[in-house]
Amino acid sequence: MQKILVRDLKPGMITAEDIYSIDGQLILSKDFVLTQDSISRLESFAIYSIRITDQISTPYREVINQAPSAKEKVRANPDFKAFKVSFEENVDTLKTTLSQVVRANSNFDAENVISQTLSLIGKTEKSSISMMDMLLNMRDYDDSTYAHMVNCSILCNVFAGWLRMNQEERVLATTCGLFHDIGNLRITEDILKKPGELTVREREVVKRHTMEGYSILAEQKLHPEVKNAALMHHERCDGSGYPYGFTADKISRFSKMTAIVDVFNAMTSKRVYRKAICPFTVVEELQSAEFSQYDPDMMLTFLKNVTNSFIGNRVRLSNGIEGEVVFINPNALSHPTIQCGQKFLDLSQHKDIKITAII
Ligand SMILES: [Fe+2]
Ligand SMILES: [Fe+2]
Repeated sequence: MQKILVRDLKPGMITAEDIYSIDGQLILSKDFVLTQDSISRLESFAIYSIRITDQISTPYREVINQAPSAKEKVRANPDFKAFKVSFEENVDTLKTTLSQVVRANSNFDAENVISQTLSLIGKTEKSSISMMDMLLNMRDYDDSTYAHMVNCSILCNVFAGWLRMNQEERVLATTCGLFHDIGNLRITEDILKKPGELTVREREVVKRHTMEGYSILAEQKLHPEVKNAALMHHERCDGSGYPYGFTADKISRFSKMTAIVDVFNAMTSKRVYRKAICPFTVVEELQSAEFSQYDPDMMLTFLKNVTNSFIGNRVRLSNGIEGEVVFINPNALSHPTIQCGQKFLDLSQHKDIKITAII
C-alpha cells in the first residue's frame, strides 16, 4: 500500500481504502480500479492524495487494450463501410419520397423505398458482421426521424426472423418499421428536438404523430397492418399508451412488434437531451419495470436474441474493468459472463457490477 498524489494517479491503479469527501460522502470504495473518469472525480472533490494497493493494475487490462476494440474492427470492415453508404442512400430516398407526400398529401412510391431497404438487408445478411453490430455502429452518424425509421425497419425485419415469421410477414414487419413515425414529419423540429422537458401542450402535440401518421398513410396503397402500426405503436398492453389507451387485445400484432423495436431503438440512440443508453441497461429496464406494457412472449424473444447478439463484444464495467461478453445467462439476460484476461466474471453473481458501455 502506498500514498500517492491524485495528480500522479493512473488508470488501472486500485484503491486501498474507501475514499470520502470532506462532508463524508463516499466517492470511491476500496478495491476500485481507477479510470480516467474516477480520477477526474477525485480532483473535482479536491482530494489531494489517496492510498492505493501495490498492484498497479489488473495485468490483463493491458493485453486486452492492445487489440482493436470490436467497434474499431466493425468500422474498419469493408462490409460496414458498404452498409453505411447503402443506409445513407436509403435514408435519403425516404426523405425525398416522404417530404413530398407530407407536404402535398399525394400518393408516394412506397415500393421503391421498401425494396431499397430489403436490398440493404439482403446484402448485409451475407456479411460476417451481425446486423445488430451494423446498426449500433450507425448510431453516432444520424439521429433524424428518417434514420430512426430505417433503423427500426431493419430491426423489425431481424425481429420477424427471431419470431420465425414467413417471408411475407417479414416484409410487412419491415414496412411497419419504415413508416411507423411518418406522422413526426408533421411535427415541428423545435418540438421534436427540444433539448429540455416538453410542456404539457408540447407533449400533446408529439402524441398526435400517431393519428397524423395514420391519416397520411390512410390513402396509400399499403397493407392495413402498416397503417395500424403508425397509429398504435405507442399503445401499451396494459392500457397506459396513446392515442386511445388500447389494451393488448385491441393492439395489432405488428404494432406490438414495432413498439418493442421502437422503444429499444430510441433508448439506445443518443438524443439532444441525453447520451445513448447502454443496450444492457435498456434490456434490464425493459425486463423489469415495463414488461407489463409489452407482449411478454415477443419481448422475451426480442431481449434473448438482442443480448445473444452481443456475445464476443467488448464491454466496460462499472468498476472500470473491461472484458468480453462470453455467455448470456437466460435467467439474467442483462448480467452476462465477462471474460477479463484469464478470469471469468459471472455478473449474475455480482449484481452490483453493471455493464456501462459496449466499446
Ligand atoms: Fe412514434
Ligand atoms: Fe419511433
